[in-house]
Amino acid sequence: MKISLLTIIPAFFFASLYLQAQSDWIVAGEEGGKLSIQIFDEDFALEGKQIYNTACTSCHGMPEQENYTMLSPPPGDISEDRFKNQKDGELLYKIQKGRVSMPAFENSYSEHEIWSIVAYIRSFHSGYEQEFPDLEGIEIPVLAMKLGYDENVDKLVVRVSDEKTDQSEGVNVRAYVKGMFGSHFLGKAITNAYGIAYIPIDSKLPGDEQGYVSVLLKADKGYGNAKLEERIQAAAPTHRTSAIEGRHLWSRASKAPIWMIVFFNLIGIGVWLAMIYIVIALRKIKKLQ
Ligand code: HEC
Repeated sequence: MKISLLTIIPAFFFASLYLQAQSDWIVAGEEGGKLSIQIFDEDFALEGKQIYNTACTSCHGMPEQENYTMLSPPPGDISEDRFKNQKDGELLYKIQKGRVSMPAFENSYSEHEIWSIVAYIRSFHSGYEQEFPDLEGIEIPVLAMKLGYDENVDKLVVRVSDEKTDQSEGVNVRAYVKGMFGSHFLGKAITNAYGIAYIPIDSKLPGDEQGYVSVLLKADKGYGNAKLEERIQAAAPTHRTSAIEGRHLWSRASKAPIWMIVFFNLIGIGVWLAMIYIVIALRKIKKLQ
């Protein structure tokens, strides 16, 4: 009796995992019917593309290339009918909640960001027509942001106001620093009762010569969202030296040390001598024939 229980329970466990993994992934009820009020235009899809490229390509591959990772069940290519035939809300729900080897993203990305991924996925579905929700009676916050910096605590101070309802608490704020090689995520926070969110920024971050950096802020609450990009003096002043300044092999000869010039020329002479020797040797061989 004991033995059979010990074998049956894990068997059931793995069988249910297996069945769950193999069965069609159906989103129950209302969840799948959710619609985005944001238009799935090029800009919005571009936002989603950035997220897709960092968070999804490792398994789903590059769109239209069918180069997804072989997992069970297979993740699939986002341009396929399998994705096309789903409702917007179903895609949203699956990305938020995940299942087995598909991770849940609801804690990493806001609903607004996940809609942007859906917009990106839709950009590969020819003939797709977006449906919009009925917004009658729904209050859409109109968010405005102001950015400050408190150098005593090394934090960005973001003040959000909802111009329509005057309720500025509970807004999700995310901050990025825009650098030469794309954006760097600083952190996120939720506004307090005064509509203020604090996000730490490291003042050792390299800025320009005066210590300015470009900060991108994104805020969302319910159906409302806003974006703000501003340069602030919150980073370390950095003097950028040119890559060809100073003594380098690839810079001007006048900057090179004497031993290097001598060495370089000796090698050149050596190569020429070797080539002349080979030509002479070849002629000798020809004469012998
Ligand atoms: C660790 C690998 C992995 C990563 C990373 C991943 N996925 Fe998935 N995804 C899967 C697998 C595996 C499935 C199939 C799951 C199933 O059917 O149970 C899947 C399924 C899905 C589905 C549902 C497809 C369907 O046919 O129902 C969507 C939508 C999706 N992924 C979107 C995304 C997006 C968007 C991202 C990035 C934000 C992402 N996935 C990142 C592995 C991954």
